[in-house]
Amino acid sequence: MRYTYATHLECSETGERHDISKLQGLSTAKKPLLARYDLAALKRGVPREQIAARPAGLWRWHELLPLPDATAIISLGEIETPLVPLANSERPAGFRPPLVKDEGRLPTGSFKARGLALAVAMARLHGVRRVAIPTNGNAGAAMAAYAAQGGLEAFCFCPDDTPETNLSEIALQGAIVWRVNGLIDDCARLVAAGKEQFGWFDMSTLREPYRIEGKKTMGLELAVQLQWRLPQVVFYPTGGGTGLIGMWKAWQELHELGWITPPLPRLVAVQASGCAPIVRAFDAGKRHAEPWANAHTVAAGIRVPAALGDFLILDALRASNGFALAVSDEEIEAARAQVGARDGLLLSPEGAATYAAYLAAARSGRIGPTDEAVLFNCASGLKYPMPSVTRRIDVGARQITLD
Ligand SMILES: Cc1ncc(COP(=O)(O)O)c(C=O)c1O
Repeated sequence: MRYTYATHLECSETGERHDISKLQGLSTAKKPLLARYDLAALKRGVPREQIAARPAGLWRWHELLPLPDATAIISLGEIETPLVPLANSERPAGFRPPLVKDEGRLPTGSFKARGLALAVAMARLHGVRRVAIPTNGNAGAAMAAYAAQGGLEAFCFCPDDTPETNLSEIALQGAIVWRVNGLIDDCARLVAAGKEQFGWFDMSTLREPYRIEGKKTMGLELAVQLQWRLPQVVFYPTGGGTGLIGMWKAWQELHELGWITPPLPRLVAVQASGCAPIVRAFDAGKRHAEPWANAHTVAAGIRVPAALGDFLILDALRASNGFALAVSDEEIEAARAQVGARDGLLLSPEGAATYAAYLAAARSGRIGPTDEAVLFNCASGLKYPMPSVTRRIDVGARQITLD
């Protein structure tokens, strides 16, 4: 039995083939490379029931992942994340409760574990000893953890105002981490600048081909969790867009395998109004986004002023008949407070943005009452600053008041 059906890498812009058995970054056209599989052979060789019968989790999908065999895996326990209905949070009358796919339960508390588990393992396989990344926090934490487990050295560059928990967890997981007085694109320039001198491999979003393959498992997982049908609409907090592009790729592959039938979900890219380059490009009918000036938002993970894969995000939104929506930091904070208090789910600000966007889309009629909606909470809410508690009581108090 074949462990993987991966055959080659393909330039996402020109379609040019690249050798999958070698270490690769961008294509010769300087665009992201996508892994391709022999889906016809997989279709003949493995029925979907065989996949569904395996223990749940990321590695049940190994035929659709690039690792050559199980010995190459670096694992910290990649579970299948649950779908939690928001039964009590507000929604327009007649709408079904949206489902939150809670990625905060993965190793390192975010969905970045999926992509970095694959990317670090593939880099190690190709002889890489040092990996470096520009990161708003969660990707760096995941890279540090998988590098530690796999015996690689890790180097992380974070914008100054990256959540403190992220900076500390990166350091505690053995990486060297710098605060940078700039944004993620400035951090990316530092990674590129140190490549020659320090000999590290660049793990930036879409600059190597395998983080997207790991993130793809979110789309595969949704299919198996919903008994091989998919929801009508998926709200995704979009920074570099790897997850959105990855899920769209996953559903194309599942469709080609005959394991799911269209219609595929409508994809909604959710951004913050302080950094919404994809929303602006989508609304203007453009295929590439202009860099966003003075980007700011409490949702650090989606503060990405310019995405290398902008055209892949915009293509997927349009092909899926989806759209892009920006929400304000006030809406994000209110959504986070509401879902925590009413449904007991502590969302990350990025996850809260998807609930705020869901409400806006439902109220404006962009989605309908019978639509099954899935919202991605991509990190544990525990990784972010939370309001401090100011209520105090003296240990000897005779009376307790609630005001
Ligand atoms: C919690 C969280 N949500 C969303 C994103 C955006 O992910 P993507 O790069 O796939 O668009 C990130 C990225 O840092 C993140 O950390």
